[in-house]
Amino acid sequence: MGTLPRLGSGLGYRAELAEDIDLHADRIDWLEVISEHFLFAREARERLRELARRFPVVPHGVELSIGSDREPDAAYLEALASLVEDVDAPWFSDHLCFTRTDEVALGLLAPLPRTRQVARRLAGRADWVRRTVGRPFLLENITYYVDLATPLTEAQFIAEVLEHCDCGLLLDVANLDINARNHGFDPLDFLDTLPLERVVQVHLAGAGEEEEMTLDTHSEAVPARVWDLLEEVVARTPVQAALIERDANFPDDFTELLDEVGRARTVLASRPAELIGGA
Ligand SMILES: [Fe+2]
Repeated sequence: MGTLPRLGSGLGYRAELAEDIDLHADRIDWLEVISEHFLFAREARERLRELARRFPVVPHGVELSIGSDREPDAAYLEALASLVEDVDAPWFSDHLCFTRTDEVALGLLAPLPRTRQVARRLAGRADWVRRTVGRPFLLENITYYVDLATPLTEAQFIAEVLEHCDCGLLLDVANLDINARNHGFDPLDFLDTLPLERVVQVHLAGAGEEEEMTLDTHSEAVPARVWDLLEEVVARTPVQAALIERDANFPDDFTELLDEVGRARTVLASRPAELIGGA
């Protein structure tokens, strides 16, 4: 994973932000796009090709459902391979979860039973997807609000998956913070358990609060806790790319997002000199 390009600090491309992204391209190193918005829509794909001439672009999927029993749809994978080729993506990503059963599309990223058997099956599936699409593939940790008793902790489960496949980790630091708060574990213990050398990219976002729960809303500024966690990760391992995710409650002043992109860039560049050699 260390051979992948260092993209720097970017922003999740959303239609609501398109105009501002265009105006402030010099302050955004790269863009992540939602794969499913561009897989089969010809006009949208043409616009994306134009963006890809100006920015590195990484497709980030939400519907691969890599944890489902059934293999991902062949037409979906073919379109995804075409998309990553079209934008010459350095990698592509999706989530460690399932989003549908044989009969039902859940409409959410659902957590998997955390057993070694499930982790190894998922790892095999991830390698198959990576080979089929033909580019490096990153898996992202999700949020979950109900945590059933399972043999492995979330960090142990992710480590088990990564041990058995040649994929990277998209570490969503905000998701880690949300899960740690909702389920009462120490995020630093979580980092201790992960093979951090597999982290290629991080996500940063702000969460909502409702009664006793922290919610994965991407609707607020990145909080201090998440910045602290990012610094902790960067102190431990090289990170090729950081990304600000904002999906709701877009600020009137776009410079708020640009400042977050800039702050993430600064944190990435703060890596101790004695560790940079391994980057
Ligand atoms: Fe994320």
